[in-house]
Formats: sequence, structure tokens, C-alpha cells
Amino acid sequence: MRGISLQLLLIFVLLLLCLKPTVENHLGVRDAIQGCIEQERQALLKIKEDLIDDYGHLSSWSTEEKKKDCCKWRGVYCSNQTGNVIMLKLNALTFPPKPLRGKLNPFLIELQYLTYLDVSFNDFNHTQIPEFIGSLSNLRYLNLSSATFGRNIPFQLGNLSRLQYLDLGENHFNNPENLEWLPQLSSLRYLAMSFVNLSKVNNWLQVVNKLPHLTSLYLHSCDLPNIFSIPLVNSSTSLDVLDLSHNHLTSSSSVLEWLFNSNTSVFKLYLNENQFHGLIPDAFSKMNSLAHLYLGDNEFEGGIPKTFGGVCNLKTLSLSRNNLSGQLLEFIQNLTECANHSIEALYLDWNHIVGSLPDLTIFPLLRELRLSNNRLNGTIPESFGKLSNLESLYLGDNSLRGVISEHHFSKLTKLKKLYLSNTSLVFNLSSDWVPPFQLDKIYLTSCHLGSRFPKWLQTQKNLYWLDISNSGISDTISNFYWVFSPQLEYMDLSYNQITGQIANLSLEFYFPPAIDLGSNKLEGKIPRFMFKAIHLDLSNNMFSGPIQSLCAISIRNLSCLDLSNNQLSGELPDCWMHLEELKILNLANNHFHGKIPSTMGSLLGIETLDLGNNSFIGELPSSLKNCTELTFINLGHNNLSGQLPMWLGTSNPNLVVLNLRSNHLYGSMPSHLCHLAHLQLLDLALNQISGSIPKCLNNLTLLTQKLSSNATITHLYEEDFSRTSKDRAYDDHVFWMWKGREYEYKGILGLVKSIDLSSNKLTGTIPVEIMELAGLISLNLSKNLLSGQISSNIGALLSLEVMDLSKNQLLGGIPSSLSRILGLSFLDLSNNNLSGQIPTGPQLNTFTATAYEGNPGLCGAPLPKNCSGEETTQNSNKRNEHDGKQDDEDGFITLGFYVSVALGFFAGFWGVFGTLVLKRSLQLAFFKCLNDFKDWLYVAISVNMTRLQRQLQKLIGVAIRL
Ligand SMILES: *[C@@H]1O[C@H](CO)[C@@H](O)[C@H](O)[C@H]1NC(C)=O
Ligand SMILES: *[C@@H]1O[C@H](CO)[C@@H](O)[C@H](O)[C@H]1NC(C)=O
Ligand SMILES: *[C@@H]1O[C@H](CO)[C@@H](O)[C@H](O)[C@H]1NC(C)=O
Ligand SMILES: *[C@@H]1O[C@H](CO)[C@@H](O)[C@H](O)[C@H]1NC(C)=O
Repeated sequence: MRGISLQLLLIFVLLLLCLKPTVENHLGVRDAIQGCIEQERQALLKIKEDLIDDYGHLSSWSTEEKKKDCCKWRGVYCSNQTGNVIMLKLNALTFPPKPLRGKLNPFLIELQYLTYLDVSFNDFNHTQIPEFIGSLSNLRYLNLSSATFGRNIPFQLGNLSRLQYLDLGENHFNNPENLEWLPQLSSLRYLAMSFVNLSKVNNWLQVVNKLPHLTSLYLHSCDLPNIFSIPLVNSSTSLDVLDLSHNHLTSSSSVLEWLFNSNTSVFKLYLNENQFHGLIPDAFSKMNSLAHLYLGDNEFEGGIPKTFGGVCNLKTLSLSRNNLSGQLLEFIQNLTECANHSIEALYLDWNHIVGSLPDLTIFPLLRELRLSNNRLNGTIPESFGKLSNLESLYLGDNSLRGVISEHHFSKLTKLKKLYLSNTSLVFNLSSDWVPPFQLDKIYLTSCHLGSRFPKWLQTQKNLYWLDISNSGISDTISNFYWVFSPQLEYMDLSYNQITGQIANLSLEFYFPPAIDLGSNKLEGKIPRFMFKAIHLDLSNNMFSGPIQSLCAISIRNLSCLDLSNNQLSGELPDCWMHLEELKILNLANNHFHGKIPSTMGSLLGIETLDLGNNSFIGELPSSLKNCTELTFINLGHNNLSGQLPMWLGTSNPNLVVLNLRSNHLYGSMPSHLCHLAHLQLLDLALNQISGSIPKCLNNLTLLTQKLSSNATITHLYEEDFSRTSKDRAYDDHVFWMWKGREYEYKGILGLVKSIDLSSNKLTGTIPVEIMELAGLISLNLSKNLLSGQISSNIGALLSLEVMDLSKNQLLGGIPSSLSRILGLSFLDLSNNNLSGQIPTGPQLNTFTATAYEGNPGLCGAPLPKNCSGEETTQNSNKRNEHDGKQDDEDGFITLGFYVSVALGFFAGFWGVFGTLVLKRSLQLAFFKCLNDFKDWLYVAISVNMTRLQRQLQKLIGVAIRL
């Protein structure tokens, strides 16, 4: 798993950093020779000249007399016999990285005795690795990784015949055509080329085979081509560590064959994140030295071959995220020959394993057990409490039930991570229980923890992550223990029944930067200290009073603030210029009044501004045009007045949702709106907008696209490496009108593509350009003064499910192309001046007379008036019944639509995960309230549409397991 290897890298880095002083002391002793060689000193000074040293790493590299001895310069190590520079460690391994920039000066080759060169983690600005490095013929160790080198890898590196260690990973090279220089490095023991795109190097296996001494090979994420005929294997390689993870290797390639035939000495094998399928080959168990086997994120099926039980050194067996199925007991039995005595880490999470949990004490060394996200049922045996080496236990997302007692933890003194979320486990622990462990991560979402806050949590002094959301707690918040370990990053108590007021605690306390208390029954004022957070979710409670204390905080890190659905009131405070980090602000559904402060325009990074359903008055502050990152604006259901601002559309090019519904805005629709290529939801209904509908709406690119879009504004800010915990995300709440009811969506869906301009004073015709919006699901232009004919092209709105053009002054016939819109499930053309025969078609025939009434000139079914002038005897009663039923079901979204959502979610899910890991590798802060995961389609549908929600979840569940 890439996550794990990055973690390892990090640990390695930290170790190196810790060890460095010792290394320096050891090598710094130079009693035989005093001072360095002048020529080499000059060369080093030249090298320094070409480096931009933003962080003063090279400040000791100086011409000053007292600093003359270059052997004492930072990163320079000389031979204690000859005084020659033998090591140069210029790696910028800090946290976060503090790179040197610039280029490597050719004077480097003056350092002919160099055996060790490390320039990793610097920034060479996509320049080529200098060819002259190939002349440093004494080099044994060369680390050029993560140094932003670009262009081509110089073949001159092949001259380094003494090289034992070479790391070229994580740079930005052009895809190499071949690696013919590589076999010349006949002394090479360690080779890392992770993230170098080797897709054109079809003979990579042959090349690798020609390196007789190679013991470690890292080709993670190299886009390795599959090889379909086994290369001439006469290889003497005896690899210890082989990392081929995150490529696109398949079972039909010969890689496994090569591996099994010539690499029986492998100790650590990473084949995770590939496309291996079928049964897990028995042959792995013939690799006598195998201790760590990573096969996660593949498509393996079936179980674990029984022969694995005979691999007596096996320590790690990772099979996460495959398609394994079968009884858990059988999996365990297949490992019991001797492997059970050595296995320390067993990952079987995210498979389709069934059955109940057996006694696992036959795995005495087990440190990490992951069985989460399977189909296990039954209870957790108390014998788990005897697994005294257990550090991490992941059993969540299974149908486990039963009671968890103190016995389950009796000997788990080393336990650090406990993941039991989304089970039906009932915790029955005595209130004075003192656990034997100190956990750092607790995930107990949707467990039954009892109505009181679990007291034992107070004993946990190293907590980093605490998620006890939706766990049935109905205690008062005054019983909550607000003393946290200073490591605590995240605390989630949401979706409980917690009552009471939060005390106004001292600001001196440590508070976790991310707090989610949403969906409880908390009341009273929001205490000042809470605004110290980075992510604060207090939505869906009964908090009241003003929020002026927001301005009383001096440390303002707030990045995500969700106070929606409370009873907060008063005017908004006016200190927004101090909240530079704010990306998400949701104050919707409260009782705020007054004007929207103009300082909100200084929230330059804000992406989501949701002030809907309050009592704001006045005009939209023009300063909002500075907020160019906005993707979501909801100011609907307020008392805003004034003209529709002209800057809408020019200043916020990324807008996806623009909701100004139900205000007192007037003026005409600015044609700049058409610049909003990402716009999905435009709701200007219930205002006093006049003039005509702009003709350029066909420029709303996203609405012209039929496929459900990827444009979404879910803001993801944390994920767990294990991918077993739920990702933390903020989803914008979208309110969407449907048949006179407003539905709330969380997470904007690629599917909500809607224009609602109803109940305004729009005049003129419906522009034909609107007919190009082939992705539009809902179009509501009712209750305006629109005139003219309905374009005969209306049938081009192929995605339309809802069309309401009622109560206008439309003329002429109903275009027969309407019958092409097969998904149309709601149609209202009533109360216009339409005339002629009503077209028919499979979908159109489902509508009743109400869709057409109030148009004196219309005739034909389902209207009673037939076109020859006689009353028809249509069975209109029956049709009405049918219509009524449809209404109750809110059946507006078709199955195809669910499926596309679920698939979109599936595709997006992986995309995002990739991005996340990459970001993490750049050492970004854990809590970034949001990242630009515009490509993620996260679907969670409103509470008042539980039926839909259930179906979607089912489908999403299916999609994830696909
Ligand atoms: C000099 O280096 C050699 C190995 O290179 C080592 O054995 C010896 O102890 C070192 N001498 C001193 C004085 O550090
Ligand atoms: C990086 O390279 C680009 C073009 O190759 C150049 O414009 C830029 O100035 C360079 N930056 C530094 C810091 O050298
Ligand atoms: C157990 O091993 C047998 C023999 O290798 C295999 O056929 C079966 O699928 C395995 N079962 C499980 C659940 O691992
Ligand atoms: C677990 O599920 C299986 C299949 O659905 C069922 O036969 C079995 O009785 C269940 N076991 C328990 C302990 O609930």
C-alpha cells in the first residue's frame, strides 16, 4: 500500500534526522588531517553559488577564515585519512521540506573521492540530472529522489560501476524509452525508481535481471507494462525486497511466473494496488523467505491457499480490498499449520468474508488485525481480550452484534487503535472501568455506548482521534470531560441526543482543532472557546443568541464553520477580515437579521457561503465580488433587496450553485451569468426579476452535458490511511425544489442540474438556446410573463425530468418533439395560450389533464376536448388516480439515474483517494478543511427522503464492493 510505504519513508526520515547528530560526531573526528583540501573547498564554494539557500542550510559554507575547514561544513564529510570529501549530504529532509533550489554546479566533479551523494528533497526546478554525475566514479551511494529533477535520465549514470545504492524516485522525468544504461551498474544492490513512468520500457524485467547483486527493488507506481512472455531467466538476482505496487500488473502477465521462478529469496513483497485476479497462487508459499506479503487492492478471489499456513516466517499478510469470499473460520484454519505462530499483521478488510469471529488466540503474536468491511456476523468472542500483543483492532462495518464487556479488553495493554464503527455492538462496561490500554484512535460510530458519556474515555491520555458519533448518547454536555490530550485532532460527538449548554470554558484549555457536535440537542450560546477550532460543526442543534464572540478570539484558524439549523439570532459580527482561512461558512436556517457585512468580501478563500433562510436585508455587498473562489452561494429565503448584482458571473467563475430564491431582488438577469461554465443549479425564483432571459444560457457548459457531472463541492479534509474510517468531509447542503417541496441534499450531486426562474416578471420568449442544455434535469419558468412559442427543439432537453412552464403567456402548439424526453415525469404547461393538438408518446401519455388545462385552444387526450370538437370519453378518473399515486412516491428520479450516481461515486472515490495520498505525501496539514476534490461525487441525500437515501446507499454499497 502506498500509504504504508510513505509512512515507512517518513519513519525512515525521522530516524535519519534523529541519527544525524551521531553520524556527524562520529565522522567529524578528524585528528589525523587538519582542514580540507583547498581545491575541494573551492569546488564546494562554486557548488554553493549555484544553490538558492532559502533556509540557510549552507551558512557554514563560508570563506571566513575561522570557517575555513570545509570538512566541518554542514553536510560535508571528509576521509579521516586523506582529508578528501567523501560524503555530501545535502538532502532537505525536514518536516515540512525546506529545499535548496537551483542547480548542481559542474565543479562537483572536482570531488572525485565522493562515495556518497544525497541531494534528495531539494528543488532543482525540473532541470536534468547533470551528466557529469556519471564521472563521479567512486560513488557508492546516490540519492536523487524527490528533488524535482526533470527531462531525461542521463545514460551517463551507467558509468557509476561501483554504485550500490541508487534512488531516482519521485521526480518529473520524461518517460524513459529504455533503461539500457542500468545493467552497467553491476554493483547495484538497492534501486528505487518509484513514480518514474516506465510504461515504454517493455524489457524492464530483463534489465532488472541483469543486476546480479540487486537485493532491493522499488518500482512503486511506475506504470509498468505487463510482460507476456517470460524473459530469458538465468538470473542470479536474489531480491530481499521487491516493491511493484500500484502498477497495472495483471495475472495474465508473466511477472508472477518470473517471481516464483527466480526470486524465492524475497522477504518483503509488495504487489498491492495492481490488477491481479483469480485465486491467490499457491506458489507464494514456496518463497521460503517470505515474511511480508502485500496483496491488497487487487482482484483476488476465493480464499487463502492452505499452503500459506506452512509459511512459517510469515509476519504480514495483507489482502485488504480484494474480492475474497468464504467463511472466516476457513481462512483462519488455512493459516494454522505454522504461520499462525508468526503472523503479526493480518489484513482481510474490505472483502466479502462471511461467518462469525473465531477464537484467534492461536495467533499469539498478532499486533494488527483488520477484518472490517466484510460480512461477518455474530458476536466478538471474549477470547479477543487475551490477544495481548494487539495494537490495532479493526472489526467495524460488519454485522456484529452482542455485548462488549471488560473481558474483551482484559489483556489488551498495547491496544492503540480500535475500530468498531457501524456494528450493532452494545458496550456494557462498568462506569469505573479503567481500561488496560491507552488508545490513540477510537472509532465507535453507530455502536451503542449507553446513554451516558463513557467514563473510561477520561483515562485515555494519548487520544488523537475520537469518533463516538451516533452512539446513542443522551447525556448532558455538562457531564462531558473537556480535558483533552494535546494530541487530539478530531472529536466527533455528532448524531447523538446530547443536551444542555456548553460551559464557557477558559481559552487556555487545549481544544481539538476539529470538533463536530452536529445533530444533537445542545442549546444556549455558543461559547467563545469553540471558535478557536479549525473545523467547527454545531449544525442541527438548538443554539441561540448572537455569535459576536467569534470576534473575541485572537487565534483565528477557522476554516470550516457550520452553524446551520439552529436558533441563532442577531446581526452578523463584522470581523470577517480576520478570518482569512475560512473556506466554508454555513449559517443557513437561523434567525440572523440585518445586513450582510461588507467585510465578508475579505474572505478571499471562501468557497461556500450559505446564509439561506435567515432574515437578512439590504443589498448583496459588492465586496463579495472579491471572493473569486466561491463555488456555492445560497442566499435564498431572505429579505434581500436591490438589483441583481452585475458582477455575478464575472467574479466567481467557479460557481456551481447560485441560489437567490425568494428575496426581493429586481433588475434583469445579467448576461455575465452565462460565463458560469460550472453552474449546475441556478435558482432565482420568487423575486421581481424582469426583462428577458439571456440568450447565451447555452454557454453554461456543464448544463449542456448529459452525463452526470463530476463537479461537486464536497470538501474533504481528512482521511485515514487505513481507509477503514470514514472520510471527513463537509458537504454543501443543497436545497432543491421539487413539486412544491424543498428537499435538502448534502453534497452536491452531479445530477442536480436545474434552472428555476419561476415567479418573477420575466418577459419575452423562451430563448431557443435553452434547448441546448441537454443535461438539465429540471426547468421551471412558471409564473412569469413569458410569451411567444415553445421552440420545436424542446425535445433536445433529453435529460429533463421536470418541466414547468405554467402560468405564462405562451402561444402556439406544443411541439411534438416533447415526446422524445423519455424521462419526463412532471409536466405543467397549464394556464398559457397554447393551442392545437396535444402530442402523444409513451411518456406524454402518462400525464393528466392538469398538465394542460387553462389553455383554451388545446385539444386531444388527456383533455376532455377532442380535436374534432367533440368531448372525448377518456377515462380521466383512472388517470387521475394514477397521477395521485405518483405524487406520493416523489418518483422523479429514474433507476438509470441512481446507477449513474452510484457509478460516479465509485469512480470518484478512487480518484480522490489517489489525490489524498499524494497530498499527504507532500506533508500537508492533516486538517485542511477542504481540498479541491472537485472530482469527487459524494452522495448523501436528505433526511426527508429516506427512501431515496436507502436505495442510494444500497447502490453505493454495491458500487464500492464492485
Ligand atoms: C578512520 O576511518 C577508518 C575507516 O575508514 C576507521 O577504522 C578509523 O577508526 C578512523 N579513525 C579515526 C581516528 O576516526
Ligand atoms: C525554473 O525554471 C523556469 C523555466 O525553466 C524559470 O523560468 C524559473 O525562473 C526557474 N526558477 C528558478 C527558481 O530557478
Ligand atoms: C482453504 O484452502 C483450500 C485449499 O488451498 C482452498 O481451496 C480454500 O479456498 C481455502 N479457503 C479459505 C476460506 O481460505
Ligand atoms: C450469520 O449469517 C448466516 C447467513 O446469513 C446465518 O446462517 C447465521 O445464522 C448467522 N449467524 C449468526 C451468529 O447470526
